Amino acid sequence: MPEENITKTGTPGLDGLFSIKGFKQKSSILVTGEPGAGKSILAMQFIYNGARLYGESGVFVTSEQSVEKVREIGRTLGMDFEPLEKNGLIKLMKVPVARGYEMAPDELISTVRKSEVKRVAIDSISPFEYLATDVRDFRIKILNFVEMLTKQNITLLVTAEKMKTDFDRVEFAPIDFLFDGLIMMGRLRKAVTFQRVLSVIKMRGTAHSEELYPVKISDKGLVIEKLEE
Ligand SMILES: Nc1ncnc2c1ncn2[C@@H]1O[C@H](COP(=O)(O)OP(=O)(O)OP(=O)(O)O)[C@@H](O)[C@H]1O
Ligand SMILES: [Mg+2]
Repeated sequence: MPEENITKTGTPGLDGLFSIKGFKQKSSILVTGEPGAGKSILAMQFIYNGARLYGESGVFVTSEQSVEKVREIGRTLGMDFEPLEKNGLIKLMKVPVARGYEMAPDELISTVRKSEVKRVAIDSISPFEYLATDVRDFRIKILNFVEMLTKQNITLLVTAEKMKTDFDRVEFAPIDFLFDGLIMMGRLRKAVTFQRVLSVIKMRGTAHSEELYPVKISDKGLVIEKLEE
C-alpha cells in the first residue's frame, strides 16, 4: 500500500518524477497536451491501476467517448475495467456535453458523496469550455468544481487539449494556472520520426523533475521512460 497522503499515479515511471513519489492526496492535476499524446491513457491508468494495484475506488468521467469505447480501448491496452466495475471499485461515467451538461453532473456528485471514492479523472475538460459563457465563467466553474471534489478527499486528474505544445515556446492557457499540478504531453521531432514526451511543469508543494521524458505506448499501456544519460 502506498504511503499515507500520497496518491500513486498508476503510470510506470511517473511517480518517480515527484520528490514525494506520487501526487499529493486531495490535489488537482491537469494533464494537457496535443492530440494522441497519451492524455486519455494516462487518465485511464490513474483510475484503473488506482483500483487494481492500490485498492482505491475511482470514477472515470468521459466527455468525449462512450463508456463502452473506454472499456474497449482499455482492453487493447491491458486494462480490463469490467471486473473492477462489477465489484464497485470503478465507475465509468459519460457526460453528454453536446446536450449541455454541466461539469459536475448530479450522478458524479452523488457518487463521490456517498461512496469511498479516492480518485476522479475527467477526460477531457475542454468541451466544457464551449458551454461556458466566457473565460471568467469557465474559470469560476473549474475552481468550484475542483474545490467541491478535493473537499471530499479526492485526488483529481483532469485532461485538457493544448493547441501549441512546442516545448520551447509553450503558450499556457488560463486553466493551466488553476490546478495544483500541471503535466504537459507532446511530441518532439527526431529527424524523420516523432518521439512522445512528458514533462512536469508544476506541482505545488513538492519538488519535481524538470526534464522531458520519453513516453512509450504499447499493448501493455503507457510508460514513462528514463532519459538516457
Ligand atoms: N497498443 C498500442 N500501441 C502503440 N500505441 C498505441 C496503442 N494504443 C494506442 N496507442 C497510441 O495512443 C494514442 C492515443 O492516446 P490517447 O488517446 O491517450 O491520446 P490523447 O492525448 O488523449 O489524444 P486526444 O487529445 O486526441 O484525446 C494513439 O494515437 C495511438 O497511437
Ligand atoms: Mg484523449
